[in-house]
Amino acid sequence: MQNRYEGRSVLLTGVAGDIGRTYLHQFVEAGAYVVATDLQDAADTGQSAVDEANSLGTGKAVFVPADITAADDMDKAVRTAADAFGRLDALVNNAAIYQGLGPKRPLTELTEQDWERVLRVNVVGTWQAIRAAAPALRAGGGGRIVNIASVVSRNGAAGFAHYVASKAAVEGLTRAAARELGAAGTTVNAVSPGLVDDTGSRAVNTDEYMERVAATRSIPRAMLPTDLVSAVMWLAGPDSGFVSGQTVIVDGGGVFA
Ligand SMILES: NC(=O)c1ccc[n+]([C@@H]2O[C@H](COP(=O)([O-])OP(=O)(O)OC[C@H]3O[C@@H](n4cnc5c(N)ncnc54)[C@H](O)[C@@H]3O)[C@@H](O)[C@H]2O)c1
Repeated sequence: MQNRYEGRSVLLTGVAGDIGRTYLHQFVEAGAYVVATDLQDAADTGQSAVDEANSLGTGKAVFVPADITAADDMDKAVRTAADAFGRLDALVNNAAIYQGLGPKRPLTELTEQDWERVLRVNVVGTWQAIRAAAPALRAGGGGRIVNIASVVSRNGAAGFAHYVASKAAVEGLTRAAARELGAAGTTVNAVSPGLVDDTGSRAVNTDEYMERVAATRSIPRAMLPTDLVSAVMWLAGPDSGFVSGQTVIVDGGGVFA
């Protein structure tokens, strides 16, 4: 994988989270030029992730504060790729409300506001980033879009029905975008992670639940953010040009679907 990203430009959202930061480091280490985004409220953490990445490798990253639900913000992030790096080759739609879900609750206790917030960010925001990036990807010859789903849409994990539904919608959006953007040469795929042992998961799950899920995998161990890197980098990179509309589950063989 090393150096396959030299000269390639990637727009990556949600870099202030543990998983986004891991993707960012790996992309820059592989030589990519990365426009790294997160909310203004998370700008300090996002900027530190970018500073760390820039000390690692041959590529380069810049931080742009951007709310994925705001059209202007996403247009600005895409323009930054063109201005700073001259092109855009891939969008990795990693930002979502996950850690911010708070404690698990029965679906009978969710409010309409809970639903609207989660669907707005996880679904509308994912679309907003695709909308903004599609013309720049097309202009560069097609490009790649990788959306981050979740195995919860397959196993129906109890306690956050709105989040489960939002990630099922991300898979549907992935297929629709693959159909619509394919003629321009753009591939659109999803990576569906299992339960990752990171700050986000520890905020919304008990230690006992984390251990139980890890033990039921075919590969019975905790999943780390680094376990996701090769699938994301393959689908966002030059070698996956005839793969589109797919969801790749990366969860140590927990869910088979
Ligand atoms: N951690 C897991 O176990 C797990 C499992 C399956 C899927 N995922 C998915 O992987 C991705 C990363 O997960 P994580 O654990 O790092 O989550 P996280 O909650 O720690 O990080 C998500 C990041 O997205 C940002 N974000 C939230 N709303 C935003 C908005 N409107 N605009 C821009 N940025 C926004 C947050 O500020 C945060 O930095 C998410 O899409 C999550 O749903 C995580």
